[in-house]
Amino acid sequence: MFAKIAGTGSALPERVVDNFEIARNVDTSDEWIQSRTGVRTRHIAGEETAVSLAIDASKEAIKDAGISPEEIDLVIVSTVSAEQLLPCLACEVQAAVGADNAAAFDVNAACTGFITAYQIAVGQMKAGLAKTALIIGTECLSNIVDWTDRGTCILFGDGAGAAVLKADTTCETEILPMVLHADGRKGGVLTCGSGTGNGKSAYGRYVQMDGKEIYRFAVKEVPMVIKELLSLSGWEAGDVDYFVLHQANRRIIEAIAKRLHLDESRFPMNMMDNGNMSSASIPVLLDSMNKKGMLKPGTRLIIAGFGAGLTWGGTCLTW
Ligand code: ACO
Repeated sequence: MFAKIAGTGSALPERVVDNFEIARNVDTSDEWIQSRTGVRTRHIAGEETAVSLAIDASKEAIKDAGISPEEIDLVIVSTVSAEQLLPCLACEVQAAVGADNAAAFDVNAACTGFITAYQIAVGQMKAGLAKTALIIGTECLSNIVDWTDRGTCILFGDGAGAAVLKADTTCETEILPMVLHADGRKGGVLTCGSGTGNGKSAYGRYVQMDGKEIYRFAVKEVPMVIKELLSLSGWEAGDVDYFVLHQANRRIIEAIAKRLHLDESRFPMNMMDNGNMSSASIPVLLDSMNKKGMLKPGTRLIIAGFGAGLTWGGTCLTW
């Protein structure tokens, strides 16, 4: 049994906000933001919502996979920035795309969310409970950002990415290695909850973080996860075409590549144009790689996410 991504899609809000616009509202500069984070622009929702972006990305992924929505057994949405608690976004997507035969639920594992959704879907396939899954990462982080806090508002963007995953039951190859980790004791370094609101973000609560701690966490744990996956799969680092990582910021990815003694060119990035979109970062990046023709049958990927919780994990994937 082998799980494969059969199609991808993405959706970004129309409005693009550059660093100069941000610098008109808080004491910062394009030079500071680019040099510390790599971000030049980000998309910020106007009329769009986490739900509408998820639906648009999903429709594109279903079309790309060439399947009918009725074939989908499972819809999983990863998000930390839904407009509402109920109904869950996955049910809204299920209804909008016509995935009438699917089970649907949301997961919250922050920037590790898309990887988590992927692993749940593959697990369901391995258990014989699903053959086709639609997995989505969608965020409107602009609603939970304090736009007066220059330490955080510079980082984030809105968007959604989706993938259709199909099980090949005729294939005897086992599913490829996947790992997930968490350390709830360190959860305080990145939070967004009731009691953190000051009325300046749309939802009355906003993201707070210890940037240096997150940097240290990511640069330590992500190389270890990549080494863990290499060891489990038997792949050499040289066998991997691309390392697709959560797009928190450029300096984190550069430091991870350096620690692994790997060339940065094997770490595709999109945070320059899109900012950090939490659980949407990886699927939006996968979709753009797919559309650029970078992903061909047999292309080997290691995908890794890290974020609030703290959570982190990754998976080996063959296109
Ligand atoms: N513009 C100008 N100056 C700023 C800004 C800004 N936007 N933000 C902070 N500063 C100032 C600070 O006030 C401080 O000034 P001071 O020395 O006078 O006190 C100085 O710059 C240094 O501040 P630091 O917070 O120490 O800045 P640092 O070099 O650590 O960079 C950053 C901050 C970019 C957030 C860094 O810590 C980082 O990359 N951390 C990783 C966090 C991250 O990527 N989070 C994403 C969300 S989590 C996730 O997706 C996993």
